[in-house]
Amino acid sequence: MHHFTYNNGVLHAEDVPLPRIAAEVGTPFYCYSHATMTRHYVVFRDAFGSLDINVCFAMKANSNLAVVRTLAEIGAGADVVSGGELQIALKAGVPANKIVFSGVGKTDAEIRLALACNVGQMNVESEDELLRISAAATQLKKEVRVALRVNPDVAAGTHDKISTGRKDDKFGIDWTLVPDLYRKARTLPGVIPSAIAVHIGSQITNLAPFEAAFLRVRELGLMLRADGIPIDHLDLGGGLGVPYDHDAEPPPLPADYAAMVKRTLGDLGCKLTFEPGRLIVGNAGIMVARVIACKEGPSRQFVIVDAAMNDLVRPAMYGAHHEILPVHERPMASPVKPYDVVGPVCETADRFAQDYRLPSMERGDLVAFMTAGAYGAVMSSSYNARPLIPEVMVKGSAYAVVRRRPTFEQMMALEQLPPWLA
Ligand code: LLP
Repeated sequence: MHHFTYNNGVLHAEDVPLPRIAAEVGTPFYCYSHATMTRHYVVFRDAFGSLDINVCFAMKANSNLAVVRTLAEIGAGADVVSGGELQIALKAGVPANKIVFSGVGKTDAEIRLALACNVGQMNVESEDELLRISAAATQLKKEVRVALRVNPDVAAGTHDKISTGRKDDKFGIDWTLVPDLYRKARTLPGVIPSAIAVHIGSQITNLAPFEAAFLRVRELGLMLRADGIPIDHLDLGGGLGVPYDHDAEPPPLPADYAAMVKRTLGDLGCKLTFEPGRLIVGNAGIMVARVIACKEGPSRQFVIVDAAMNDLVRPAMYGAHHEILPVHERPMASPVKPYDVVGPVCETADRFAQDYRLPSMERGDLVAFMTAGAYGAVMSSSYNARPLIPEVMVKGSAYAVVRRRPTFEQMMALEQLPPWLA
């Protein structure tokens, strides 16, 4: 469910017609719906009923300050994976005790920053990292709750590049080694090992792998408790998928996911943390582009738009499907043609869709790439010296640019010639 709908034949973001934003901001741009992201957060949170939970928005999905502030205002915590995300979370008003610091490679500087900011929890990826956190905490006279991130050796059944819980993935600590490391952690100063974390991947569309991983966490939790280690927090990661393709089977609803969590872990009396990213912002954002040209190949029709793989890399990187809608609705009976929708970047990978059925397209038409709110703007680059595209947030009939398009001077501001060329 989202708030991008046709009204009088024109695609709107909530109550704002997209052509108006295109005229005022220029294309391409990202557009976020405030109502959609807050609704998703509330639906997810409320699905757990009386369970004691903390929803930490995975900022890697979208770390725009206004997005994080919107979620912080309604009580969200944050899952951060870098010093940069940590600083945005704090700037957006997320209380430090609701911040979980994850990430497979934390630098010493990031560890010190996280400790100095008093984050609520650090998710540990290796013995070496545990020792570094303990040493830094001791030096800074801090104490932090740590969760060992368990690698449960479960295949999430999602795209290979975003599966993280198999034993040969770089993430987490082999679940068979975890008990010994907890015993060791108990002897270390500066760390309180009272939590277990797990995250098996992203865009997961079936509950079975989650359940397999959570049962492993349950087993570990009970074993550790029997060993006298007081596990009272479980961090179950993110990963619940969203519908990208309306012809495909829809992913499980938050209510089904929550019921499975209750069934597998509800009786342990632990506080549960979740790190959803895509689920909160995925279909709360779109990317709007304008058709630069239509080009006829010997056997294919190309629609060349002014957005490219540097702006939305998911199709090029994961073969991801994003629905494409004409911003001006065509009558139901209009003939459709198969188009290759491509960007201007000099790579054949710069293709958003192949044989995509659209009504007849013309230069100047606006199109919307749907479900682009997660892993869209955050993964963009300025490849081909293309400026990062603006982000706009809509709330009812109001809208605001929440990240500006840089000028050429701003794009170049960090570059300088060496003395021998100046
Ligand atoms: N927690 C951890 C430890 C993670 O690694 C991730 C995502 C999440 C939470 C949030 O997962 P979500 O709820 O958003 O599925 N760029 C890829 C997705 C990469 C996901 C990385 N980790 C894509 O565009 O599909």
